[in-house]
Amino acid sequence: MAKRNFSFAILLFFFFFLFFFLFSFSLATNVSYDHRSLIIDGQRKLLLSASIHYPRSVPGMWPGLIKTAKEGGIDVIETYVFWNGHELSPGNYYFGGRYNLVKFVKIVQQAGMHLILRIGPFVAAEWNFGGVPVWLHYVPGTVFRTDNEPFKHHMQNFTTYIVNMMKREKFFASQGGPIILAQIENEYGDIERIYGDGGKPYAMWAAKMAVAQDIGVPWIMCQQYDAPDPVINTCNSFYCDQFTPNSPNKPKFWTENWPGWFKTFGSRDPHRPPEDVAFAVARFFQKGGSLNNYYMYHGGTNFGRTSGGPFITTSYDYDAPIDEYGIARLPKWGHLKQLHEAIKLCEHPMLHGEPTLLSLGSLQEADVYTDSSGGCAAFISNMDEENEKTVYFQNVSYHLPPWSVSILPDCKNVAFNTAKVGHQTSIMEMVPEYLQASMTSPDKESKAPKWGVYVEKAGIWGEADFVKNGFVDHINTTKDTTDYLWYTTSFYVNENEEILSNRNQATLVISSKGHALHAFVNQKLQGSASGNGLNSTFDFESPILLKAGKNEISLLSMTVGLQNAGPFYEWVGAGLTSVKVKGLKNGTVDLSSNAWTYKIGLEGEHLKIYQANGLNSVKWQSTSEPPKNQPLTWYKAVVDPPSGDEPVGLDMIEMGKGLAWLNGEEIGRYWPRRSSLHEECPSECNYRGKFMPNKCSTGCGEPTQRWYHVPRSWFKPSGNILVIFEEKGGDPTKIKFSRRRTTSVCAHVSEDYPSFDLESWPKYTASTKKNIATLHLKCPEGTLISTIKFASFGTPTGKCGSYSKGDCHDPKSIAMVEKVCLNKKGCDIALSKDNFNMGLCPGLMKKLDVEAVCS
Ligand code: GAL
Repeated sequence: MAKRNFSFAILLFFFFFLFFFLFSFSLATNVSYDHRSLIIDGQRKLLLSASIHYPRSVPGMWPGLIKTAKEGGIDVIETYVFWNGHELSPGNYYFGGRYNLVKFVKIVQQAGMHLILRIGPFVAAEWNFGGVPVWLHYVPGTVFRTDNEPFKHHMQNFTTYIVNMMKREKFFASQGGPIILAQIENEYGDIERIYGDGGKPYAMWAAKMAVAQDIGVPWIMCQQYDAPDPVINTCNSFYCDQFTPNSPNKPKFWTENWPGWFKTFGSRDPHRPPEDVAFAVARFFQKGGSLNNYYMYHGGTNFGRTSGGPFITTSYDYDAPIDEYGIARLPKWGHLKQLHEAIKLCEHPMLHGEPTLLSLGSLQEADVYTDSSGGCAAFISNMDEENEKTVYFQNVSYHLPPWSVSILPDCKNVAFNTAKVGHQTSIMEMVPEYLQASMTSPDKESKAPKWGVYVEKAGIWGEADFVKNGFVDHINTTKDTTDYLWYTTSFYVNENEEILSNRNQATLVISSKGHALHAFVNQKLQGSASGNGLNSTFDFESPILLKAGKNEISLLSMTVGLQNAGPFYEWVGAGLTSVKVKGLKNGTVDLSSNAWTYKIGLEGEHLKIYQANGLNSVKWQSTSEPPKNQPLTWYKAVVDPPSGDEPVGLDMIEMGKGLAWLNGEEIGRYWPRRSSLHEECPSECNYRGKFMPNKCSTGCGEPTQRWYHVPRSWFKPSGNILVIFEEKGGDPTKIKFSRRRTTSVCAHVSEDYPSFDLESWPKYTASTKKNIATLHLKCPEGTLISTIKFASFGTPTGKCGSYSKGDCHDPKSIAMVEKVCLNKKGCDIALSKDNFNMGLCPGLMKKLDVEAVCS
């Protein structure tokens, strides 16, 4: 009996085993490629991919971001892996909070999307030290990104660690997971030669090491012209239509299509027009591309001290299709969504037919794809930057705006033109709210919070770290455990020096390798200086007040994000190189080789007074009138969350420079540093012609970054502890939380451009009743159209937020739009004679512009 039971158990076990084996086997996805595309389970694929970096938002935002990407027509989420966020010291790993990579990948998987894992582990990415841990630079004998044993050892270690982690979770497509591609290294081909003899062997080693990881899906290397088989070399640029991979057996992939650009403190705000992003994508697919990844699709935030640089801002908004706060940026997001729909309608002929190129003019051409089942798709482009053009294609005339591509999924009807933005626009605002004392705080009767104030001493606090004649390098000394390093010295002034008379002041002259400096003499701030995104070195020169006898010079040197790219970038230093006092009787005193006393970091940082368990380790002075313009000051307030549930930005416009935390979470560096008025900001952005980051900038003379994202999930219902460290002086009573929300939405439609739902494309092409142009308006979730601010059918001018009526205007417009749209989530209005006076101003091309308020 026992024996029978035993064999039954074995049989049961066998069946279970078989079931699991078959089950997991059947879930596995086969990913390969040919010259045309990635092949997933035997099917060629056109893929639209979106970079969303997990540590640049918080886990609470991930599902929403991924959902918004999916709704935008995205199939794949792409992320780098951030080595220095994970391997905090050799062999000591962290995967919690924003660094929970497994959780992020699971959310992508649950959304039914694919994932591209760019392991790097060097990533650039405007991320501190390009993602490589700072400790690795101090492992003796290490040189990054070349044929160097310690570097290769640690790189292989980390890559293997991540690969094994992904394997354990069955995340590779070959195991049934979402990962369809993985990347090793990053844009090394661009600098390989500069590394001399170590360059090529390193690149080849990296490729081989990656392939040996046996992940069952292809590897890619971006901007790696010599990527060896089977690794696919891919393109990163503003345009990749002219790119060809290094083998006829590899598909044409675009890993970084930059739909905007990043910002540096003290510079303008770059914007890339949606028409040009769409043009670049359409050209890429026209010319045989099959995978396009937007870098970034959601840029997010460089929380804490994660931003690279130097000088990369805390915001990494990137002018991306989803804004820093997680809200779809319109019209960019919507324009690209429609583009994606149009491209997907072409998928079959594009992937199964060879293209025929037709020249339609000197700068106009069509690429026509026909498949064996009779499918036909065409891309007709006009590369002329100035002129529109009417071209003839298969005996039909097509009007092409300058610098645009028309997509014809059936070789007849235009589904989309990259220069005609049909999607609605929105205007966002930051609604300010002064800080409110928390209900749990002792002073709940007053609304403005009481402040706790703690002022640090300028110079050495506690015991000095060391004394040395001359200067040390800032980064080699702090090892990036903090932004701050004090350099202090003293010198004597004779009683008979004329500079003591106040009429002839002495001058302090300092040179630094970077990045920023506040100079104190006898505990008083004399001035500040800093480099910029182009050149981190700087000079400081300021008159100073000295006293007879001993004068104390305390110089606070700061880094603002470590170098993140470039050949041998890890050797770029920072800190003081020369300090002199001019104007003394004997001329100039050079203090550079003095005995300098050093202190790493701030007292408040050492005591962690921004965290719950360190908060009480200093004596905060409690006041409802905190000091203003006082350097080296810590401020603390217990506050309520701002009302509503919109995303929150901390408004630091009246503050100087420093760091901020909420409930111990690092908001990051703030610095409302103004950009120079000498920079150029065009009054209008011309989308035509090649884009460069400085082409369509805004914000000349304005603070580069005023608001700092504080994720909603960091707030508690009450008793939130906001801690600020202000370096040079500001007014904390002016700090506000601002809620980000949509003020108005605008939509327009013109008689000559039918805007239709691409989802109903087959119905549309089959119907004879074409060209009923229809305006679509939609409010954000949870809001209704409450006011029609503007509506004009005729020849209105201006743009969203500043429309005005033209000479031709149907006076019934407002009443008509109000009737259809008020108190609705959204509405559609056709340009038909039932709705408008279509006979108005004969001969003129009329349009309808609407601005509505959602609340
Ligand atoms: C690329 C790099 C990215 C990012 C980008 C600019 O060269 O691969 O990581 O730095 O430039 O945003």
